[in-house]
Amino acid sequence: MVNAAEFVEEAVEEIREEVGDDNAIIALSGGVDSSVAAALAYEAIGDQLTPVYVDTGLMRKGETEGVRETFAFMESLRIVDARDRFFDALAGITDPEEKRHVIGEQFIREFETVARETDAKQLVQGTIYPDRIESEGNIKSHHNVGGLPEVVDFDGIVEPVRDLYKDEVREVARELGLEEVVAERMPFPGPGLAVRVIGEVTPEKVEVAREACHVVEDELEEHEPWQAFAAVIGKATGVKGDNRVHGWVVAVRSVESRDGMTARAQEIDWETLQRIQSRITGVHENVARVVYDVTHKPPATIEYE
Ligand code: XMP
Repeated sequence: MVNAAEFVEEAVEEIREEVGDDNAIIALSGGVDSSVAAALAYEAIGDQLTPVYVDTGLMRKGETEGVRETFAFMESLRIVDARDRFFDALAGITDPEEKRHVIGEQFIREFETVARETDAKQLVQGTIYPDRIESEGNIKSHHNVGGLPEVVDFDGIVEPVRDLYKDEVREVARELGLEEVVAERMPFPGPGLAVRVIGEVTPEKVEVAREACHVVEDELEEHEPWQAFAAVIGKATGVKGDNRVHGWVVAVRSVESRDGMTARAQEIDWETLQRIQSRITGVHENVARVVYDVTHKPPATIEYE
């Protein structure tokens, strides 16, 4: 990408040509990629576009409210409350790939319903360059957008940011005047907090992960990590008050990276780590332990599943 302003102008023109008079639809995740794709498409075709945000119950703290506010200018925005349906579909499932699969399927079902209702013929997606590379290499199934075209019969797929890296998408977000919170957002996995709890996805584990992620983002923002989060990785014994408890182990991870394909664990000072530990053990009565992950990618991935 040479220049963000020129990119926007060309992308808007291209979207108009590709979509024509059809109705279009985009899945809005709250992340920077789909936000930028949606804003470009909305600028190009206005209310011919229906942006759909599915609240899976696996989103970051404040995400749904944030999306509602940020995209209030889009009259056609749809917010679907699917939390119960996602937790029901995930009950009893522990295998990481199966979790991703179930979430993908449920997501498609939710999205398909709106696509039918609005008679959408074109699908707009926020796929970026590294997504395409990783999907081709089949490193991990990228559920969030990958399955849609096969299931819903669209006449065309429009991917306005397909050739951009994450840092370029952020530049475009700024150019589009999207709130700084969107432009500076850390990347967040499509399957959401489901890949930040190892094993079965339950409302309690997800709630612990959500609150702990919020603490980590808050505490480490000034260290400018590429991505920082927490995950519920198991259970261990701890002492709370006068009682021994068998509570959650929360792992804290903070990495530096350009595009997520490789990453370095960030060196964080002891005082900050202790503050994080103290806040996270306070978020829920069942948190027994907090650990810091020092592994680079490779050999580890950034996320836990
Ligand atoms: P991993 O864990 O594979 O993650 O090292 C690399 C980057 O990709 C994000 N990630 C995803 N993003 N859908 C996405 O859109 C997904 O299914 C997904 N899984 C991982 C991860 O947060 C990191 O930034």
